[in-house]
Amino acid sequence: MRVKVLFVSSEMSPLASTGGLGDVTGSLPEALRREGVDVRVIMPLYKRIKQSCASQLRFLRWSMIRLGWRTMYSGLFMMEVNGVPVYLIDNDFYFGHDSIYIDYSFDIERFSFFQRAVLEAMGEPMGFDPDIIHLNDWQTGMIPILLEAHYQSHGYHRQTRCLITLHNLKYQGIHGREVVQDLMDLPDSYMSETAALKDGVPNFLKAGIAWSSRVTTVSPTYAREIMSEYFGEGLDELLKAHQWKVKGILNGIDVDLYNPARDPEIAAAYSPKAWIRGKGTCKKALQEELDLPKLPKTPLFSMVTRLDSQKGIDLLLHVIDELLAEDVQIVVLGTGDPSYEKRLQDVQGRHPVNMRSMIQFDRHLARRIYAGSDIFMMPSIFEPCGLSQMIAMRYGTLPIVRQTGGLADTVKPWNKFEQTGTGFGFLNINAHELLYTAKEAAALYRNEKASWSKMVVSAMQGDYSWNRSAEEYKTLYREILDEAR
Ligand code: GLC
Repeated sequence: MRVKVLFVSSEMSPLASTGGLGDVTGSLPEALRREGVDVRVIMPLYKRIKQSCASQLRFLRWSMIRLGWRTMYSGLFMMEVNGVPVYLIDNDFYFGHDSIYIDYSFDIERFSFFQRAVLEAMGEPMGFDPDIIHLNDWQTGMIPILLEAHYQSHGYHRQTRCLITLHNLKYQGIHGREVVQDLMDLPDSYMSETAALKDGVPNFLKAGIAWSSRVTTVSPTYAREIMSEYFGEGLDELLKAHQWKVKGILNGIDVDLYNPARDPEIAAAYSPKAWIRGKGTCKKALQEELDLPKLPKTPLFSMVTRLDSQKGIDLLLHVIDELLAEDVQIVVLGTGDPSYEKRLQDVQGRHPVNMRSMIQFDRHLARRIYAGSDIFMMPSIFEPCGLSQMIAMRYGTLPIVRQTGGLADTVKPWNKFEQTGTGFGFLNINAHELLYTAKEAAALYRNEKASWSKMVVSAMQGDYSWNRSAEEYKTLYREILDEAR
């Protein structure tokens, strides 16, 4: 029997995405379908999707959803993205905006509506009755409780089970009890510490962890880390209590999209067998595009990131002047926290010759940077998985990472005695460790061509595809269903 999975997410690349969650939704379901799982995605119909995909959207039906004292219109549309059926929930009041997220308390209401609309759509309206609902992050965390309270206890969807994937524990969906209880129409029995409450207030992510059959996170190391106080964001005790059902499954990347041998975006194609000339051409083109001196031998460092404290921007800012005093070039691409945006622009002001701060979100430029630079920096404070380091390696750009979460699981740090590695690592949250590692990488790049080349080739040859992970998810789905029988 083909397992039927409804993959619920607030983002899906290329329709609407702010980062890693969107990338995962844009590639994991496709990989699972190749494994024979009937996966379909459901997400909000944001304004952008409505405008750019108007001709592909097929209207299925509309209904009214109860939301506390309100009754709200909910439209159900459908389209296909790379062979994956995608259902979209329409409501202009909630989703007819330019951005995916708006502000904290409105987002609580928007995704409360979304979760209720998802459950209403399941079955006859969608023409799809999933065996498993695969949830992602806080925006979907209340679904297991809503499913039980509003459906299963009345005899509907009795066989359906939930699995939640944690992409980031920092955001949990916490709001006042009265508001949430009203939006969700939940009886008091669910407003308890064993169900939806954490320290007296509703917490969507906590509810999802407690009420799902399985919890996965996006790398094995992060799965261990979140059981500790430092990484647990207050949920470590809960996760430890549910340890038996928590599993780390490493993310993959879209290896067809991120392929230097066939990427139409970059100046020259290259492969692990012949990369030196092609990558050199890409570097020159990038320097030209960014108006940097065209110096082939100067190490070009890059960073493509959300400008968020999670990403270790503070470590870099602390030592960046010292690094720029050397013969190096640095380019940072990203948007986010306005104070980081400003400080990075100030750095460029101080170092107009060898620093570029590109404060924008540009997927195309991102690929030209991955291909054209030599060293990629990812000094994250915590990193559930991280995709950029894998993309960088695929383009033969060696990452410098702090060895945490998925960074520890995907990058093999340089070992000069064995002459092996696919990047560079440092352990502590310490700016000078980053600086020291960056200087070490630059020196190796300049002076030891043969070792560098060996690393580039092993980085490029790594398997970053979804194949193995998709198999692991498939096994997990089966396990859940076997238990349910
Ligand atoms: C979040 C995490 C990142 C992870 C991504 C996809 O963005 O911060 O580490 O790779 O989700 O799972």
